[in-house]
Amino acid sequence: MNVRLHKVIAASGLTSRRQAESLIKAGQVTVNGRVVQTLGSNVDPASDHVKVNGRHLKPAAPEVFLLLHKPPGYVTTMKDPLGRPTIASLLEQVSLRVFPVGRLDYDAEGLLLLTNNGQVAQACLHPRYHVPKTYLVKVSGVLSGEEIHALRRGIQLEDGPTAPAMVKKAGIARVNSWIEITIYEGRKHQIKRMVEALGHRVVRLKRTRFGPLSLGDLRAGSYRYLTDSEANALREVFHRHSPPPSKDKILLRNDLKNPMRGVDTRRFFKKGSIPFKGQARPQALQPNRKGRRTRAYRGSQTRV
Ligand code: URA
Repeated sequence: MNVRLHKVIAASGLTSRRQAESLIKAGQVTVNGRVVQTLGSNVDPASDHVKVNGRHLKPAAPEVFLLLHKPPGYVTTMKDPLGRPTIASLLEQVSLRVFPVGRLDYDAEGLLLLTNNGQVAQACLHPRYHVPKTYLVKVSGVLSGEEIHALRRGIQLEDGPTAPAMVKKAGIARVNSWIEITIYEGRKHQIKRMVEALGHRVVRLKRTRFGPLSLGDLRAGSYRYLTDSEANALREVFHRHSPPPSKDKILLRNDLKNPMRGVDTRRFFKKGSIPFKGQARPQALQPNRKGRRTRAYRGSQTRV
């Protein structure tokens, strides 16, 4: 299979694609012993010998996508200068270097994607791609209908108004409220700041979905590899330049009957609370083709 030379160099982890092009132009790259300075040259990584400055390229690292259920009380970094527990301690069995795609606050929990694919990670975080992120939020006090509308329409924060969001009541309580909120941007402490702007406080924050991925019933502190179809759906994000869902569409989707469809929240709510009163309940997990309730990890993605 022929692949562009600069891509092969970048895929080995040596440099970025742009830097690889500079190396090629500078005559620092040889293919089968001959200097190649033409940008856009193709090579077959399986049979051609590519060297940069006389050294063979390392084989490209296999691509990995992990979904971690981050518990509260962990920082979303691999090292913490303050000595707090980091997500690295939950990933000790993973031998390849992966990095988190975005962040969850120290006290937040839920779905965290990790990968070694920089392009997909960048696309997932870039505001242009409007990747939806869904959170279950326990809010201090009882949110009024007007406050829920304000969250939907957008809240004025010090770094500008927030984009329209989907917001549903997810539970009724006398002291606190549960909401499910889907945002299409990813500003620092966004949910907390939105809620605080209304005079309330986030008591608990759990991310249940990230783009095409769902947390499902993965135990807190555990991780799993993405299925091939999930990994492909993520790669799609990178190829898609879709405009943000229109304000009308988002506000209309707020009226859907069952906002919690597909979210398995059974472990999230304390016994006795009634988050789904008057609403359809989330579906129980379906067994797979072999009748097991485990996920299929087979396929092209590497497990490390
Ligand atoms: N919004 C927040 O306030 N914190 C998070 O961790 C994620 C979204």
